[in-house]
Amino acid sequence: MRLAVCSSKGGVGKTSTAANLAAVLARSGRVLAVDADPQDSLGRAFGVVSKSKDDSLAGLLEDPEADPRSVVRTEVAPGLDLLPAHPSLEQVGVTLASQGGIVTGIRRVLRPLLDDYDHVVLDTHGDLGNLTLSAVCAADAVLTVFTSDPGSALGAARVTAFLEQHKRFENTNARLIGVACSLWDKEGKAAREVLGALEGTDLPLLATRIPVSRRVPSATLAKRPVVLTNPTSAVAEAYTALAADVLTAYQETR
Ligand SMILES: Nc1ncnc2c1ncn2[C@@H]1O[C@H](COP(=O)(O)OP(=O)(O)O)[C@@H](O)[C@H]1O
Ligand SMILES: [Mg+2]
Repeated sequence: MRLAVCSSKGGVGKTSTAANLAAVLARSGRVLAVDADPQDSLGRAFGVVSKSKDDSLAGLLEDPEADPRSVVRTEVAPGLDLLPAHPSLEQVGVTLASQGGIVTGIRRVLRPLLDDYDHVVLDTHGDLGNLTLSAVCAADAVLTVFTSDPGSALGAARVTAFLEQHKRFENTNARLIGVACSLWDKEGKAAREVLGALEGTDLPLLATRIPVSRRVPSATLAKRPVVLTNPTSAVAEAYTALAADVLTAYQETR
């Protein structure tokens, strides 16, 4: 599976979801985590920061001759390698867009690596811009995340429309395999309303909800996803169950 985690806005729990899913999938196979967000938060979730453009996805996108294996950080967690981002990725994305290399850019960078991995998990910036498009075009499946904020439910519909549009232009065949509820506040009225609204659509809502937990930001500080720092906590168990939901949905839609 090559899974891009997307949303039309930031702060919905994408990076935390991508990091934890990657770590869970790495329990049973080799995983490459790809940070396609110039804010480089996925790398930071594993304590990885690249020092320069050339030490990151940005340099690989810019220079088709560069060797992706020299940039991949190996074994940042058990079974898990990581291709880091760098703040320069934003400008590289703009330049590549003007040169016509953005849509297929990440797909091209990853191609020589794919045989080494069972799964690739791509984290994206909280928008539906060019870098997100590039990540989606490198993926065969998309997961989107929403929270109890009513705007984020609308975001799930925006991701669907975005995928449909790029399918029409033959930029991608990636399918939306799941809509996951993150930062779930089970007492919250807004959360229940948002969930109710999504249940009334034909979007592929996943059963597992990720609860709000202080352990998630604490794990970021500790530079390890919560499924590694506190594997038996409720939130870690939810991420583990979500990974199973994602794999089932992926297999069902193949
Ligand atoms: N389940 C959770 N419980 C509590 N805080 C969370 C949870 N998931 C994410 N967060 C926090 O919310 C903020 C946004 O999450 P993040 O994963 O970075 O979202 P995004 O990548 O969509 O911007 C971060 O500070 C993160 O630590
Ligand atoms: Mg993020």
